[in-house]
Amino acid sequence: MNPTDNSPGKGTPDGLAADPRFKVVERTLKQYQYRADALLEVLHVAQETFGCLSDELMNHVARQLRVPPSRVYGVATFYHFFTLEARGEHSCVVCTGTACYVKRSAEIVARLENEFGVKAGKTTADGKLTLSTVRCLGSCGLAPIVVLDGETMGRCTPDSAATAVRVMLTEKGPAREEAARTGHRRKGEEP
Ligand code: FES
Repeated sequence: MNPTDNSPGKGTPDGLAADPRFKVVERTLKQYQYRADALLEVLHVAQETFGCLSDELMNHVARQLRVPPSRVYGVATFYHFFTLEARGEHSCVVCTGTACYVKRSAEIVARLENEFGVKAGKTTADGKLTLSTVRCLGSCGLAPIVVLDGETMGRCTPDSAATAVRVMLTEKGPAREEAARTGHRRKGEEP
């Protein structure tokens, strides 16, 4: 690749060039005139478009902005909203901040890892569930907290969290809400 040639598509891996979503990233690179200081904006668009930042994508952005791949990787791993792995169809986030930790959130993580065959920070092989952890969601009074597809559930136990995830993976809507009602108190609900 000619290091001075950063026009759209040049030096693009075949897999990326064939992907229609790639045009969105290319448009953004062009919009920012391939400026290195647009790295965050470009990565943001790339993640929104592809759902995650693959090595291939990060290397391409590094080439186009003429910054070292290590810098792109450093930014992508520093900010929480970037993810390097594809997300599953459903997400389960367990808070492991101090208040949740002292109320057994580590046991919740272990139970979910065992039952669903996935390590925290990873996605199941069938792409259905991403299990992740986070440090303090700001609702410590309801510890331990689990967030399922954006729905916060407080005072979870390993059993109730596993049940809720099972329901989330197999059923939708009312059935899930019923499971939440009987197995959990949601954020803001009185005991
Ligand atoms: S530590 Fe879990 S919500 Fe604060």
